[in-house]
Amino acid sequence: MKITYLGHASLGIETNGKHIIVDPFISANELAKHIDIQTLKADYILLTHAHQDHVLDVETIAQRTGATVICNAEMSYYYGNKGLKVIGMNTGGKFEFDGISVRSTIAFHSSSFADGSYGGNPNGYVLEANGKRIYIAGDTSLTYEMKLIPETIGKLDLAVFPVGDHFTMGFEDACFAADFVQCNKVLGYHLDTFPPIKIDHQIAKDYFSSKGKELVLLEIGSDLGV
Ligand code: NI
Ligand code: MN
Repeated sequence: MKITYLGHASLGIETNGKHIIVDPFISANELAKHIDIQTLKADYILLTHAHQDHVLDVETIAQRTGATVICNAEMSYYYGNKGLKVIGMNTGGKFEFDGISVRSTIAFHSSSFADGSYGGNPNGYVLEANGKRIYIAGDTSLTYEMKLIPETIGKLDLAVFPVGDHFTMGFEDACFAADFVQCNKVLGYHLDTFPPIKIDHQIAKDYFSSKGKELVLLEIGSDLGV
């Protein structure tokens, strides 16, 4: 599984010959000017919630690529009404496609579209393919529900956590979250895009190191193999 950081909370995941884009907010991200959404490959677009900083480029990418949008039920009605291919899920559910499985998990946050319409409940996802398992938390606070993941689903190879604070948990809580999900390797996202979520990378990484964990913070456009 190859995970490319596309800035903010946007990820490109390549596995089983399929391309999945998570929460595309790229074209308006000043830090991601070198990423061209017109050249991104997508078979699926996986969405954690409806906030603009997670869905801005969904329609542009889905219309060009014909990608199927996987999201919660309410968001699936919204995008279905716009003519996109959608798979609507809800918390706790699992969906399998092309040898890849996604399970929708609990996230503590909110979810509304830019026009104020209801975006359902926010979610995270556990994604599995080729014997590898990653957890993408989505925008969330630290929550005890995270403990369910290793107990009921199994061992993770990577956890992707927001670390920017203010709108989500910060890096200290993300370090607790790593304990909750029993995974010592964390990819941090949802940082630096806006002034309230700018963080000092070295302080965050050192904090993780001091707790015996690794925080990976990728340059936008670079990738990580799992
Ligand atoms: Ni949000
Ligand atoms: Mn967000």
